[in-house]
Amino acid sequence: VHHLLSQRSREQRGSRIRELLKLTERPDMLSLAGGLPAADRFPSEIITDAFERAMLHRGPTGPQALQYAPTEGVGMLRERLAAEADCSVDSTLITTGSQQGLDLLARVLCDPGDVVITEDPSYLGALQAFRFAGARVVGVPGDSDGLDTEALATLLAGGARPKFVYVCSNFGNPTGATLSSARRRHVLDLAERYGFLVVEDDPYGALRFAGQAPQSMFAPGRPVVRLRSASKVLAPGLRVGWMTGPATIVTAAGLAKQATDLHTSSLNQLIVMEAFADPRFADHVTSNAAVYAERAGALSAALRRSFGDRVEFTEPQGGMFIWARLLSIDTSALLESALDGGVAFVPGSAFAVEDESDHTDRLRLSFATLTPTLLQAAAERLARAAAVTLV
Ligand SMILES: Cc1ncc(COP(=O)(O)O)c(C=O)c1O
Repeated sequence: VHHLLSQRSREQRGSRIRELLKLTERPDMLSLAGGLPAADRFPSEIITDAFERAMLHRGPTGPQALQYAPTEGVGMLRERLAAEADCSVDSTLITTGSQQGLDLLARVLCDPGDVVITEDPSYLGALQAFRFAGARVVGVPGDSDGLDTEALATLLAGGARPKFVYVCSNFGNPTGATLSSARRRHVLDLAERYGFLVVEDDPYGALRFAGQAPQSMFAPGRPVVRLRSASKVLAPGLRVGWMTGPATIVTAAGLAKQATDLHTSSLNQLIVMEAFADPRFADHVTSNAAVYAERAGALSAALRRSFGDRVEFTEPQGGMFIWARLLSIDTSALLESALDGGVAFVPGSAFAVEDESDHTDRLRLSFATLTPTLLQAAAERLARAAAVTLV
């Protein structure tokens, strides 16, 4: 039946690294590989109470949470999110996670062959969504200040005409980098000048524990769509995200969403609305960030202890990841001995946009899910595996 698959489906590739990472489910494995938030930090009480209140919302003939809802989202939540973003309700769409936002945008903006520009390395789920829509994804390098906008300007001056430029604005995946204020202004200038849209993906902004947050690029009237998510501040299992952007684009995304899933779970939208309104929510976000800070500090210190000057990375100020460089080590080769030694990570080449031989000395390490003691043990296992790989 393979011949029945569409051309586009046949072009999608699984990855060897994903296959290898299935081994991370072994019970003795210390995994730094996941992109998962800390499960011991889920605000279960806030969510349970929110569920009870969600069930009390009445529709005309029964509980609203159990009925179909408008595609654009449950009115009260949509209004709240629009007010928070200081934009109109027409400019706001509730999505099934921000991942769905990426998929919808790619589908409504891209014809096959259209160019999309992203930082290289980039979030795999975004690359998948853009490629599935038939886009040609072009990478631009980045550094600790995020996407290098001078390199972007050079690409544009050389004739590149993207439909949109994708940036993970705060604590990018995998780099952990935050796009600086100056570069945000530069991207906006370039967008106005060359007529492309900026897709600002921001699931990690609330996980800041140090430094100052630059302003979002989104504001009404600007060519920017911002994607947000309840996944990292509440729980990803709820699958609730939202986008704000120019009404024409948000309306088109809403039409595409009708064909995809009719609407995001009414029950989960009401749970998120009630959880956001819970007076304990702000404290949860603050204490969450403090736990992430402790874990980031523990992994940073453990890496320096175990690797000394053979490791390089920027100290995280938030998010979930350290994007480390191990000098003279091919991290794809390291993965196999690391898994044998009971520690998992994602090798840098997995995030390469154009060429899998890029980022081979890099690895993405998540500090979110393990305690400081286990992070220390994981770093030690990694160093032992690296010693084997060097020989
Ligand atoms: C950069 C980035 N964008 C979007 C997502 C999707 O998140 P969700 O669909 O849970 O909102 C993730 C998930 O890890 C991510 O890292």
